[in-house]
Amino acid sequence: MNLFDRETYRDVRKPLDQAAGLPPRCYTDPSFYQREVETIFHRGWIMVGREDRVAAPGSWCTIRFANVSLVLTRDATGKLHALANACRHRGSPIAQGEGQSRNLVCPYHAWSYSLDGKLLAAPAMADSVGFSTDDYPLHAARIDTWAGFMFVCVSEDVPPLASWLGDLPARLEMYGFGQMRTARRVTYDLDCNWKVWVENFMEGYHIPTVHRSTISRQKAINIPEDPGRGEYTAIYERHEGTRALLHGDPGFPPIETLSGDSSLGSRFILVYPAAMLAIANDTMWCFEAHPQGPERTHLVLTSCFPAQRFERPDFQALADNYFKRQDIVVREDNDISELQQRGLQSWHVTPGRFCIKEKIVHALDNWVIDRVLGEQHDSARYGSEVASV
Ligand code: FES
Ligand SMILES: [Fe+2]
Repeated sequence: MNLFDRETYRDVRKPLDQAAGLPPRCYTDPSFYQREVETIFHRGWIMVGREDRVAAPGSWCTIRFANVSLVLTRDATGKLHALANACRHRGSPIAQGEGQSRNLVCPYHAWSYSLDGKLLAAPAMADSVGFSTDDYPLHAARIDTWAGFMFVCVSEDVPPLASWLGDLPARLEMYGFGQMRTARRVTYDLDCNWKVWVENFMEGYHIPTVHRSTISRQKAINIPEDPGRGEYTAIYERHEGTRALLHGDPGFPPIETLSGDSSLGSRFILVYPAAMLAIANDTMWCFEAHPQGPERTHLVLTSCFPAQRFERPDFQALADNYFKRQDIVVREDNDISELQQRGLQSWHVTPGRFCIKEKIVHALDNWVIDRVLGEQHDSARYGSEVASV
């Protein structure tokens, strides 16, 4: 089978009710993964968490996905930078984890850099003919923000973040994400392809089985919405109250700025390729699936609440109820994703047919193929198909 021949994907391209899934090798094959790295993760805006992770001037954190290793810094003037985490001397990472400092000093031979990437000093280089620190700043990627989310892009010729997001910021404005703060950040290292986890998150077909004893009792009506314009796809489910808590647990009141549909339901947004927002009427929690190899994914879960909730004396007790629900459900999703990956490795596994509850899985798979094959893409095409189901 040729993974780069469009004929291979004939059944994936069909409408959802006739379509089959991706060939299993798309979740295991190093050459397919490498093509995804080049055509997707190096050619788009990748969400890398919330801005308050580097809130104060001088703070920095590191991030790694798809062969991209970055230090995100906030310099003394408050400006964000996405610097390549590779020393200009012999390539050592200059930072690990996260921290706060005036400079970044390479742990190998102590070249030191400012938080905007300039090389400040390079010890004992006076005899290296023609060497100037001006010629060796850290390489940099593009960084931009929307409502407190940070996005990076390693390509110079991808249009700005605003074009990538399209009308999504306007559609979600009433939630006030820009006024939310991070209450908790949790990471997981998973033995599965990045698409396995994203696909799981964006379909409800598995809820009665995988989440049988946790969230399967929460009933909702799926309401098709205008697919919108931008590199994202969205699900809206109408129901009473919040789905961010386990049954019976107390939580926070609804976000004050919500009205109409938004106050009566949940939204699940996939910002392509691998950022997922779960939005209830009282909270927002989001996931970043960062590929580390064909069968390895670093998953980040960030939980946010409106800033004023943090001032409540019962904040931690109530927030813990949301975390309890997330911890249980995410573990169930992680376990089934790693299990599915093991199945995808078997020699005899073949693509199956979709249930119509897997419309976003189908949309993502087609979006990926568009990129990997370099075909004309039009995400709205899948979006409108989604809305018609
Ligand atoms: S590799 Fe960084 S100073 Fe040598
Ligand atoms: Fe799930």
